Amino acid sequence: MEPKDQVAIITGASSGIGLAVARLLVAQGAKVAMVARGAERLRKVCEALGPLAHAFPFDVADLAALAALPGQVVRKLGGLDIVVNNAGIHHRGDMLRHSHDKLAQMFIVNLVAPVVLTRVAADVLPPGGVVINIASLAGKLGVPGSAVYSGTKAGLRFWAMAAAEDLGRRGIRIANINPGPVDTGFFADDFENVSALTFSQPMVTADAVAARVLEAIRGEGTGLDLDIPYASGKLATLSYLVPGLGRMLRPMLERKGAAAKRRYAEKRGI
Ligand SMILES: NC(=O)c1ccc[n+]([C@@H]2O[C@H](COP(=O)([O-])OP(=O)(O)OC[C@H]3O[C@@H](n4cnc5c(N)ncnc54)[C@H](OP(=O)(O)O)[C@@H]3O)[C@@H](O)[C@H]2O)c1
Repeated sequence: MEPKDQVAIITGASSGIGLAVARLLVAQGAKVAMVARGAERLRKVCEALGPLAHAFPFDVADLAALAALPGQVVRKLGGLDIVVNNAGIHHRGDMLRHSHDKLAQMFIVNLVAPVVLTRVAADVLPPGGVVINIASLAGKLGVPGSAVYSGTKAGLRFWAMAAAEDLGRRGIRIANINPGPVDTGFFADDFENVSALTFSQPMVTADAVAARVLEAIRGEGTGLDLDIPYASGKLATLSYLVPGLGRMLRPMLERKGAAAKRRYAEKRGI
C-alpha cells in the first residue's frame, strides 16, 4: 500500500520511533492520528508536522479509550488504513526491583493494547489495510535485565505471526519490526539499568526504523517479522536455537556492550 491519502494511527507518536514514522508518513501524504499520554508535547509535534497530523492524547493502557479510537479516527479523518502499534514501556533491571503492578503494566501497554487496537481496527480496516508492530530483538531472545519486557515483545511477535492468518482472511496484513538498540529517549529514564548486552549490538536511528516501517507498509518483500539490524537479528535467532552458543558468546558481548555503553554515555553527557 502507498501511504499517500491513507489514514494511519500511530501509538507512542510524540517522540522517538513513533514520531519518525509520523514524519515519514506525513511526508508521503498520509493523514496521521498520533497517540501519546503527554498532551502538550503531542500537540506541539502535531503542529510542527502540519495539517495532516492530528493529536489523540491518552494512555493506551486505558483500553476503553483505545477501543474507541478507530471509530473516532474514521469519523474525524474519513477512514483508517494503517495501524502502527508502537507505544511501549520498559521497567528495567532485575524484575524483583519492581512491583507486580508495574510488571503487569508492561504487558498491558506492550502487548494487550496492540491486540485490542488491532481487534477493533480490523472491523474498519479495508482489504489491503496494514498493521505494523514495533516489537524488539529482546522479543527474539530472553535478555537478562529485561525479563518481563522480553516476555511482552516475544508475546507481541508470536501473537502477530499467528494472527496474520485471521487478519489475512479479511485481506489485512500484519508485520513485526524488531529493532536492536535505537537512539531515542527510551534509555533515558533508567540508563544505569540498560544491560551491556543491549549495547553490544549496533545502534540504529529512529529514522532507520521508520524507513523499515514504510517498506513494511508498502509490502516490499519484507515478510512478517523484520529485524533491524539484520545481522543482530540473525545472531539473536542463532543464540535462541543454540543456547550453548549464546552462553559462550555472552561474556564477550557483555564486554563489548559495556564499552559501547560508556562511549554512548560520554557522547550524550549522561
Ligand atoms: N529505543 C530502543 O532501543 C528500542 C529498541 C527496540 C524496540 N523499541 C520499541 O520501540 C517503541 C518506541 O520506543 P522509542 O524508543 O521510540 O521510545 P520513546 O522515544 O521513549 O517514545 C515512546 C513514545 O510512546 C509514548 N507512550 C509511552 N507509553 C505510552 C502509553 N501508555 N500510552 C500512549 N503513549 C505512550 C511516549 O509519549 P508519552 O510518554 O507522552 O506517553 C512517546 O511518544 C517501543 O515499543 C519500544 O519498546 C525501542
